Amino acid sequence: MRITVDVDGTKYTDEVEPRLLLVHYLRDRLGKVGTVVGCETSNCGACTVHLNGRSVKSCSVLAVQADGSEVTTVEGLAEEDGTLHPVQRAFHECHALQCGYCTPGMIMASVDLLNENPDPDEQQVREGLEGNLCRCTGYQNIVKAVQQAAGDMRAESTGGAR
Ligand code: FES
Ligand code: FES
Repeated sequence: MRITVDVDGTKYTDEVEPRLLLVHYLRDRLGKVGTVVGCETSNCGACTVHLNGRSVKSCSVLAVQADGSEVTTVEGLAEEDGTLHPVQRAFHECHALQCGYCTPGMIMASVDLLNENPDPDEQQVREGLEGNLCRCTGYQNIVKAVQQAAGDMRAESTGGAR
């Protein structure tokens, strides 16, 4: 089947098998290897991307279901000049990763969470990210990073960027 998808701001048209998962299309066809595969059974969240602005586990979506849509991966989050997204910056500054395997999905889920709720408390962050598993960090610094990013994004939106 022929699909046309906008991925990280670039339009791609490709012939794909109807059973091809979006995560494999992104990684194997488009080389978007920043999006990783953990469980492939929609449990771990490592493969999370945005589909038309909302986070989805890309191992639970067929590539053909993304036809005509906009997909953003972790590779499309930073600005063109390399300036990191506030969530990426906060993960770095708060040491919110160890092995880093969960990180691309965790960041994409966090961005979606903050788009929905710009000022989440700790419990809301934990609940918002419960579909994303991390085997290393114990989540404490991830929660800290999301709350720091929330503050930075609120400050940026009111013109008080640091
Ligand atoms: S690889 Fe998709 S949820 Fe684990
Ligand atoms: S940092 Fe290793 S799984 Fe999260």
